Amino acid sequence: MGKVKSKRHILSKWKKTCALIPNARIRRFIPDTEKMTRASLKQMLSQFQMVYIKPDVGTYGHGVMRVEMEADRSQLVYRYQSGLEIKRFATYDEMYDSIKEKTKNRLYLVQMGIHLARYRKRRFDIRVMVQQSPSKKWETTAMIGKVGDPKKVVTNIHNGGTPTAVEAVLSAYLPKDKQQELIAYLKRLGTLTAKQLHSKYRGIKEIGLDVALDKNMNPWLLEVNTRPDPYVFNKLKNKSMYRKVYRYAKAYGRV
Ligand SMILES: Nc1ncnc2c1ncn2[C@@H]1O[C@H](COP(=O)(O)OP(=O)(O)O)[C@@H](O)[C@H]1O
Ligand SMILES: [Mg+2]
Repeated sequence: MGKVKSKRHILSKWKKTCALIPNARIRRFIPDTEKMTRASLKQMLSQFQMVYIKPDVGTYGHGVMRVEMEADRSQLVYRYQSGLEIKRFATYDEMYDSIKEKTKNRLYLVQMGIHLARYRKRRFDIRVMVQQSPSKKWETTAMIGKVGDPKKVVTNIHNGGTPTAVEAVLSAYLPKDKQQELIAYLKRLGTLTAKQLHSKYRGIKEIGLDVALDKNMNPWLLEVNTRPDPYVFNKLKNKSMYRKVYRYAKAYGRV
């Protein structure tokens, strides 16, 4: 049991993960996550073949890399992508040395990779916005699809991603009624996550969940932001979500 804190923003992804893990109803959605070391990356890679590594403190997908291991004619080969750059290696240790040149001494996390569902061939994930209402209740106020740049391994809007209506990104996978079911489910995951994080960090007023959907439409919680961008919701034609996000953000003094 960690101490209860009054901070409004928590930057460390590791700390936020540790605050969520004790809740079994949330833990089941969190892909295996470890602090990155030469040994932990190797172990996770042999377990999952594809993993993501990310700075413990970072935003906009900066420094996030996709790392893969593949058998090529009974020989293992390794590669990673960082930004637009893809590098290949014959041995794990060569790859790790190259990764370390980029990550330097910053703490990195390694996470089981999710094969994201696609919209028009591009990977997407979902931003779920959860806010404290003016009457101090947790409410999921908005949701948006983030469709990644085809040349990148991240979907962030500030990294080439395109904000897209959730119904549009789900349409190729689910009929209308099932879309609404999934949306309702993600809304509950949002408020559940907010309450859990708020129980450890009492200053939190808003969170933004990055939820991946795999090809079977199973949700995975990739990260939780405590300073989510309210303006992405202004990119949609329908302004009703944005108006609510803005009104709530104004009530707790964010905008
Ligand atoms: N485990 C993962 N599996 C698949 N894609 C991931 C994974 N982790 C991150 N990503 C991709 O990278 C993006 C950025 O990662 P994220 O953890 O949200 O860090 P940031 O704080 O930089 O946004 C995600 O929105 C997603 O597109
Ligand atoms: Mg993110």
